[in-house]
Amino acid sequence: MRSPLTILVATMTGTAEMVAQEVQQVLEAQGAAVELRMMDGLDAGIFAAGGFFLVCTSTYGFGNVPDNAQELIDSLESSRPDLSNVVYGVIALGDRTYGDTFCHGGTRFDKLLSSLGARRAGEMLQHDASSGELPEEVAPAWALAWVRQDDEPVGATDGPGAGEGPAQSSESDRARSE
Ligand SMILES: Cc1cc2nc3c(=O)[nH]c(=O)nc-3n(C[C@H](O)[C@H](O)[C@H](O)COP(=O)(O)O)c2cc1C
Repeated sequence: MRSPLTILVATMTGTAEMVAQEVQQVLEAQGAAVELRMMDGLDAGIFAAGGFFLVCTSTYGFGNVPDNAQELIDSLESSRPDLSNVVYGVIALGDRTYGDTFCHGGTRFDKLLSSLGARRAGEMLQHDASSGELPEEVAPAWALAWVRQDDEPVGATDGPGAGEGPAQSSESDRARSE
């Protein structure tokens, strides 16, 4: 199990925070050490010691990250630290009615972290608010599977078994190869 784990939360109206709290609760019940951090005021230093991270973010505007994530994004883009000692996952909240920018907040973090040498474990969870499913109900089951799966290099999901697992999406992989 990936532990200790830091969940980094970016939200405009609180859904991602609620999702992160549910995830924290279910993982702690399994014995994991989980810290939940809102992204407000964070910079690239949050990744300095490496470790396991779960980014939990919504999408706003035309595919933007929430306001409380902007400082962290700016810091990562300007300092471009080596994050090769970071393993991460992404819970991306979005709404397919926004079309081309669906879950772009999560995709933006995914592309940025991997460009800095961090390794994504597993697929992103992309939640569609128009699906009728509640993200706080979908995410805990996804997170349990996510912390338990073997560490696989990014790209390994292109091979046999790709797309298996709960509530996963390969859209991030398609986006990464564009
Ligand atoms: C003004 C506004 C703009 C949004 N823009 C997008 C978008 O571009 N792409 C997307 O996938 N979802 C978009 N969404 C949907 C939100 O990301 C989604 O409802 C999410 O669950 C909200 O989470 P939060 O409360 O943590 O911010 C938008 C929602 C609002 C209200």
